[in-house]
Amino acid sequence: MTDIIHAEIHEISDLTGRIKSIRLRPETGGTLPEFTPGAHIRLQLPEGTHRDYSLVSFTAPQDRPADYTLAVQREPEGKGGSKFMHELAVGDRVSFVPPKNDFPLVIAPAVFLAGGIGVTPLISMAAALQAAKQPFTFHYTGRTAAAMAYATQLHAQFNAVLHCDDDPETALDLSAVIQGIAPDQHLYICGPRGMIEAAKSAAEQAGIPSARIHFELFDTATAETGDTAFEVEISATGQVFTIPPDKTIIEVLEAGGVDVMYDCQRGDCGICQVDVISGTPDHRDVVLSDAERSSGKVMQICVSRAKTPRLVLDI
Ligand code: FES
Repeated sequence: MTDIIHAEIHEISDLTGRIKSIRLRPETGGTLPEFTPGAHIRLQLPEGTHRDYSLVSFTAPQDRPADYTLAVQREPEGKGGSKFMHELAVGDRVSFVPPKNDFPLVIAPAVFLAGGIGVTPLISMAAALQAAKQPFTFHYTGRTAAAMAYATQLHAQFNAVLHCDDDPETALDLSAVIQGIAPDQHLYICGPRGMIEAAKSAAEQAGIPSARIHFELFDTATAETGDTAFEVEISATGQVFTIPPDKTIIEVLEAGGVDVMYDCQRGDCGICQVDVISGTPDHRDVVLSDAERSSGKVMQICVSRAKTPRLVLDI
C-alpha cells in the first residue's frame, strides 16, 4: 500500500489573481522525499477525491527537500478541488501520495512549451537542465501578462520567451516555434488540451518523431457547453449506465461497481483506454493519434464522451 504523507501549509502567496503558491512541509518536521523534474503529488481532497499537482522548483533536484511548492489555479468550472485548495490557510493540514513522475525529463537539448498553469512541471525541468549546463529554450504563453505565474522569474532565470495572447507583438507563433526545433531537440509541452493538440499536430507534420514529443495535459475533465446524457453498455454483462453531462464514464461505472483502470483522469496517460464495440466516441483526450481517433475503435473513458445515444464498450 502506498504511504501517505501528512503535511502542513506553511506559506501561501498570490502569484496572479487566480493562482496561489502553496508551500507544504512535513507535519512532524524533517524532510520530504526527493522528486525528479516533472513529478507531481496526488493530493487528497474532501469526499475521497484527489487532484494531481506538479512540484515547482527553480533549483536543481535536492536529495531531501524541506518543503514542496505547488501553484494552484482557481477553476470556476472545476469540481471543487481548486476551491478547496484556495481556501486553505497557513497551518492547515493536507495529505498526499509521494511524488510520481509521468512526465520525465530526458537529458538532451530541449524546447519547453508551456501554456498557462501548465508551466509548473516545466520549471523544474528547466532548473535541472540549467544546473546540468544543458541547453534549452523556453516558450511560455498565456492570455495576458498579468495571468502568467512566474513570468518575470522565468524570463530572468531561463531567458524564457513570453507570449501573451492579447499582444500581437508577442502572441505565440506555434509554427515558428515548431519549425525552429533542431533535429536533436526534444519538445516538452504542458498546458490545456487545445494547445497540446495543436502543438502535437504541428510537430508531427514537421516530421518530429513521437519519441521526441513529450506532453502532459493540464486540464481536468469538465463539462462542455452542449454536453448531454448518453448511455454506456458494458459488453461483458449487458449492464447499461446513463452518463449525465456533469459526470465522466469512469465516475458512473465506478459508482456502479464496475472495475475500471485509470490514473490521470485528464486524458493524457492512456491507462483507461477501452475498445469501442459500437457507437461513436467524442474524443477529448490528447493520447490518441489522428488515425486512432477517426477509427472510433478505442477511447479514453476518463474524459471522452459520445456522439451517439449509446456506446457499447468492451469492458
Ligand atoms: S486515466 Fe489517463 S487517459 Fe484516462
